[in-house]
Formats: sequence, C-alpha cells, structure tokens
Amino acid sequence: MKEYIQKLQEEHSLTKEEFAALVSCRDESVYDFARQQAVKTRRRIYGQDVYIRGLIEISSYCKNDCYYCGIRRSNKKASRYRLTHSQILDCCREGYNLGFRTFVLQGGEDSHFTDQTLTAIIRDVKAGYPDCAVTLSLGERSRESYEKLYAAGADRYLLRHETASEEHYQRLHPKGLSLKNRKECLWNLKEIGFQTGAGFMVGSPGQTAECLADDLLFLRELSPQMVGVGPFLRHQDTPFADQPDGSLEMTLFLLSLIRLLLPKALLPATTALSALHPDGRKLGILAGCNVVMPNLSPAAVRKKYLLYDHKPATGLEAAESIDLLKKQMKEIGCQVVCDRGDYPAADF
Ligand code: 5AD
Repeated sequence: MKEYIQKLQEEHSLTKEEFAALVSCRDESVYDFARQQAVKTRRRIYGQDVYIRGLIEISSYCKNDCYYCGIRRSNKKASRYRLTHSQILDCCREGYNLGFRTFVLQGGEDSHFTDQTLTAIIRDVKAGYPDCAVTLSLGERSRESYEKLYAAGADRYLLRHETASEEHYQRLHPKGLSLKNRKECLWNLKEIGFQTGAGFMVGSPGQTAECLADDLLFLRELSPQMVGVGPFLRHQDTPFADQPDGSLEMTLFLLSLIRLLLPKALLPATTALSALHPDGRKLGILAGCNVVMPNLSPAAVRKKYLLYDHKPATGLEAAESIDLLKKQMKEIGCQVVCDRGDYPAADF
C-alpha cells in the first residue's frame, strides 16, 4: 500500500482499482505514512500557514430532503430561521474585527434567497470589506444564477458532490436530485470563474471502497480549488437515525490522500470532524488540512443549524474563540493567517 501512496504523491492519481485497494486498507502504519507525506506536502506549499474562514449560516430552511441531513424539508422538528440582510452584515463586521478575511455564507436551498436578495448582500459585503473574499455555499442553482452571483462579487462556491457513484447518490437522496445535475453545477461554477469546492462525507450509509475510489477520481477530474470532507454523523430525526457514524481514522486517511491528490487544495478540518472527536480540528491539520472554519453565525441561531446530532457551535468552534484557535494551531507548529487565503497561483 505504501507504493500506492508514493505513486499518488508523485503522479497525483491512481487507477480506480488502486484507489479502492488503498481505501480498503485498515493498517495503521499505512495511515501514518499517508499522514506524514500529506503534512510534508502541505508544508512544502503552505509552510506553517492555516487559513480561517468565518462561517455564517444564513438559513436553515431547505426545499430538499436529503436522507442524511438534519435540516431536510421533512424534518418537522427542525426549528427554522433565516438571517436578514443586516444580520448578515453584522456578522461580517464582527468577523472582520476578529480578523476574518473570508466570509462563507452557507444555507439550505431557501427560495427566499433569490438572485436579487443575494446579489444585494454580496455587493454590500464586498463594498464594506473590499479586502475580503465571499464564499457561497447555497446548493444547486441555475447557471444564470451562479453568473449573477459571480458578477456581484462572490469569489468562491462550495458545493459538495456528496458521492460520485450514481447508485450511491440515489441511496442518499430522494428522486428529483441527481448526480448528473450536481456535477453540472460544479462544472458551471468552475467555468464561470469561481474558486470551487467539492467534497463528500466519509462513512455515509451504503458507501463502499468503490464509491470512495469514484470520489477520488472525480476530484482528480474536476480539480477543485477546495475540498470539503468530513465524517457522516447521524441525526436523530432523519431516515438515517440508526446508521453508524463515519470513522475518525478513515476520515483522516481520506484527508491525507486528498492532500496528495490535489497538493494545493484548500482543505478544511471540518466542524463534523470536531463533532466526532474533541481534537478533531488538530488531527485534521495533522492529516494534511490547512483551513478551519469557525462559526460566525449569531449565537441565537447556532443551535438551529443542526445538520447532525451533537454539532458543536460554541467553545472552540466559535469565531470568538479565535485566540484559543491560534494557541491550538501553535501547539502543532502552525500559524493562523489573517488574509483571504486564495488558492495559490504559482506552481509547486
Ligand atoms: N453528517 C455529516 N455531514 C453532513 N452534511 C449534511 N448532513 C450531514 C450529516 N448528517 C454535510 C453535507 C453537506 C454539508 C453542508 O454538510 O455533505 O454538503
């Protein structure tokens, strides 16, 4: 297996069979080797730097009904909220004062947020904070819509592909949602000029080694600037309430492989990783991640944006804890950087 890791490091890809064999591996010494190589790669490109993004969860309304997600339409127990234009700007002001230079506006697919509403928000954020990047994470929209959001000044867009296997996609989503459309959105975003993020959950119900191999091959093909990968975590009021959570070790292993696959990728240690383990964030960085996304949402709504059970919203996940975060990163030889942290243009 170590040869495959070496090959991945040198050639930045493997065949589907090789990827499937690698992700089937349960050997801790292979995980260690992948981790070491991933951290070496991160250091070669980013040195000690870790980037921060302020996450603003703008709406917990969603028209979709994904089986894994706590804010799915059918979850009648979810308490719903949406932030107003001025609440979002308030979050940015607070974030800016804390040192954030990227704001991520994330939410369910909420028809309240029309192109007009969003472009007005994006323009105001960019006018108020011209040295900041705006990232959107608002699901599937038409190409025309994405074009308008980009023209208004949005810089980046996160849209996890969730799984690159057609069959597995159907297992996770109700009819009406398709992998084909998801991929089309991602290609559109990239073509328009967004720094684009794809990604998936590790250990989602029905996921096989072949699914993960397809995920890695799809990431290779798309070559996104950002990759969001975290463990699947059950939510009690979803059809997957009784499914086991994804594993910490597997998630960290996948993160290391992605660092070798896409060396320059902006790769966050996700909130879900912190939910799974109290040191999840540190462990993520030590597996090859180089981004953390603390929560900047208003305190009153943080408990409502519950994609999965036990989602942390305070303590170390809160943007106000940035000093603790800096300390934590220092302990592992890293340094929090307060600039936009764009995808590097230079070749390495
Ligand atoms: N566990 C882990 N991640 C989840 N997401 C949604 N529901 C869950 C869950 N139960 C992830 C999806 C989505 C992102 C915003 O959160 O991958 O793209």
